[in-house]
Amino acid sequence: MDVAIAGGHGQIALLLAERLAARGDRAFALIRNPEHADDVRRAGAEPVVCDLEASTAAQVAESLGDVDAVVFAAGAGPGSGEGRKWTVDFGAGATLLAACKVAGVKRYVMVSAIRANTPPPTGGDVFGEYLRAKAAADRALEVSGMDWTVVRPGRLTDDPPTGRVNAAHVLDRGDISRADVAEVLAWVLNTPGTVHVAFDVVGGPVRIEEAVAKIGR
Ligand SMILES: NC(=O)c1ccc[n+]([C@@H]2O[C@H](COP(=O)([O-])OP(=O)(O)OC[C@H]3O[C@@H](n4cnc5c(N)ncnc54)[C@H](OP(=O)(O)O)[C@@H]3O)[C@@H](O)[C@H]2O)c1
Repeated sequence: MDVAIAGGHGQIALLLAERLAARGDRAFALIRNPEHADDVRRAGAEPVVCDLEASTAAQVAESLGDVDAVVFAAGAGPGSGEGRKWTVDFGAGATLLAACKVAGVKRYVMVSAIRANTPPPTGGDVFGEYLRAKAAADRALEVSGMDWTVVRPGRLTDDPPTGRVNAAHVLDRGDISRADVAEVLAWVLNTPGTVHVAFDVVGGPVRIEEAVAKIGR
């Protein structure tokens, strides 16, 4: 399977690229900084320079070529203000969606965030704005006619992989390592039953393969 990863130099993205390469899939990392090309090559992905805030859907479609699936793993990051929550966490996701339609790519896996399905209607400072932007991106995808999956991880850590999680349509908050999220995404791409499913995922006791299969049933 050929997979384009938006935000390809991100921490989850690099871990996902390693897993995809290890099982013989081809990963294309959409990066905005050409200096990140060697890092993504080392992770096993092919770099494609594409700034999702500065490109049109047609330009992003060119970058996608004829991939089988996209994963949106970009994000404005913790130091960013409210404006970039909308230009990246919502806007870049929406541009990628429009690009998929131009390029004829049907499968779209979104890295969302726990509580993005119930954002505060107003307030909550930058985090509230982040949740509203993620919610808007998820909603746009869910009504798009695409073969979508929305994965909502809890608070991310850099802990080593456990290979085990707790996944359900709605969970209380919890932590999960980026490595385990990457493994979940890899299994989601391989599990057709996860199409049109949105779910929360945090650390837990269930083997990832099993947890994803169950959520896709
Ligand atoms: N932090 C949490 O606890 C938490 C919890 C749940 C979900 N999430 C979500 O999970 C996502 C992935 O997490 P992570 O830790 O892997 O993120 P990360 O390391 O911050 O990676 C985000 C990537 O997005 C890229 N990006 C930003 N603007 C872009 C643009 N205009 N065009 C293309 N790429 C762009 C960044 O590129 P540069 O490298 O060039 O800056 C970066 O590589 C987060 O962004 C967030 O939405 C986070």
